[in-house]
Amino acid sequence: MTMAPASVDPSVMRRTMGRFATGVAVITTEFEGEPHGMTVNSLTSVSLDPPLLLVCFTHGARSSDAVIAAGRFAVNVLSSRQEAIAMRFAKRGEDHFAGLGLEYDGHRVPVVPRALAHLDCDVERVLDAGDHTVVFGAVRDVCSREGDPLGFFRGQFSSIVPHDSEPEHWFF
Ligand SMILES: Cc1cc2nc3c(=O)[nH]c(=O)nc-3n(C[C@H](O)[C@H](O)[C@H](O)COP(=O)(O)O)c2cc1C
Repeated sequence: MTMAPASVDPSVMRRTMGRFATGVAVITTEFEGEPHGMTVNSLTSVSLDPPLLLVCFTHGARSSDAVIAAGRFAVNVLSSRQEAIAMRFAKRGEDHFAGLGLEYDGHRVPVVPRALAHLDCDVERVLDAGDHTVVFGAVRDVCSREGDPLGFFRGQFSSIVPHDSEPEHWFF
């Protein structure tokens, strides 16, 4: 794919997109007996029928190679109490699972205990886009629990509080 020369500086792009508040998730997988996981906020729901989502991995992220090689992964949506987990899985070059008791889902993928939601995915397609690899996941199984989400805004963890005044849930 040929790209037009960038006129927006990467740091400006990062800072500007940082105004778009997101949740935080850890992507986990297992390849050749080794667990892998990394913190992301590029998670996006793509399609409801069939259920598809995507995650963008920066080039060189160890976990993206493992996800693609394994062909499956889990999305663990973090709760407001799991900031330490988000930090742990964002440290480059570390053994992200050191000292953590491993739990597995029904598809033999390691999962983060007490996450707000788990979505089990098969890798549906992989696209190269700029300095990232976009991995689409076909969602095979889900579960969720009540709790407050961990947010990310302007480069910092934040809280996301539902508006009490909202009369109904808006689902699209
Ligand atoms: C809140 C937050 C969100 C992040 N989102 C992403 C993301 O969407 N994609 C990405 O490639 N890295 C993201 N990172 C950085 C990775 O978590 C970090 O580079 C990690 O160490 C990569 O691990 P690995 O190379 O072992 O796979 C994020 C970090 C934080 C703290």
